Amino acid sequence: MRLVTQTAEMRAAVGETKKQGKSIGLVPTMGYLHEGHLSLIRFARQFADCVITTIFVNPKQFGPAEDFGRYPRDFERDKALAESAGTDILFAPEVGEMYPEGYLTFVEVEKISDILEGKFRKAHFRGVATVVAKLFNITRPDSAVFGQKDAQQAAVIRQMVKDLNYGIKIVLCPTLREPDGLAMSSRNVYLAAEERKESTALWRSLLFARDLVRNGERHSSKIVAGMEKTIRESPHAVIDYISVACADSLEEIPAIKTGDEVLISLAVRIGSTRLIDNILITV
Ligand code: PAJ
Repeated sequence: MRLVTQTAEMRAAVGETKKQGKSIGLVPTMGYLHEGHLSLIRFARQFADCVITTIFVNPKQFGPAEDFGRYPRDFERDKALAESAGTDILFAPEVGEMYPEGYLTFVEVEKISDILEGKFRKAHFRGVATVVAKLFNITRPDSAVFGQKDAQQAAVIRQMVKDLNYGIKIVLCPTLREPDGLAMSSRNVYLAAEERKESTALWRSLLFARDLVRNGERHSSKIVAGMEKTIRESPHAVIDYISVACADSLEEIPAIKTGDEVLISLAVRIGSTRLIDNILITV
């Protein structure tokens, strides 16, 4: 595995790779890698000749009151894990390399960035779209792999790829979970022991919703009410939102119809840690 920290060197490596006729698969991450990230790298390994993994904690996607400063980092461990999962090139630039002084350009994907997560994290998806656009321009991949865990992020990136004519294939991988159902996340280390126990409320509420739908419930308000009840059993849990939406547009729907592909998603704060999760249901 080759480690690259400079944009110019990365662009040169990509040029050489393309000259050899090799396809490039990109896996963007913010590091502190877990099995979920590694599953994305392993998946890219299956179809790309050259897998580029990126590690960059992107300051532009964190709000002023969010956790940029304390976001967990362990570069030596990440390096070993990225290599073991099949990374060919690890691109890990410093903040100044990605956003040198005088940086002024941003990518905004309208509408879809303003709902759900976007209501609670202003400018979050502007930061995500901007950094992913930059990573696309630097690494010029044929395909890029993202996780279903961040379903809205994937939808924002799909829209950007379409609107800006990137011609990059966006591949989604399923959410990897801990044995008790908690979706793997770099932020799970923030959870104190009691909070960690309560954090299973997200997945339990999603399974409860899936069972309701399987048993014939079609009203979104009933599904949301059932999920709220499940989550309220956890004393430290505060719900930001629960959404029943069309899986494609992410627009919320009052009722589910046969044939719909539905995304049920939620954000819950457990103490000071904000967790998100979702489930895709085809009815
Ligand atoms: P990060 O949170 O590090 O996640 C990197 C990728 O891993 C994303 O595509 C995310 O959806 C995926 N992922 C996270 N948890 C997962 C899990 N439990 N199972 C499967 N995949 C999982 O998402 C970001 O970084 C950033 O916003 C980024 C796209 C890198 C832009 O800065």
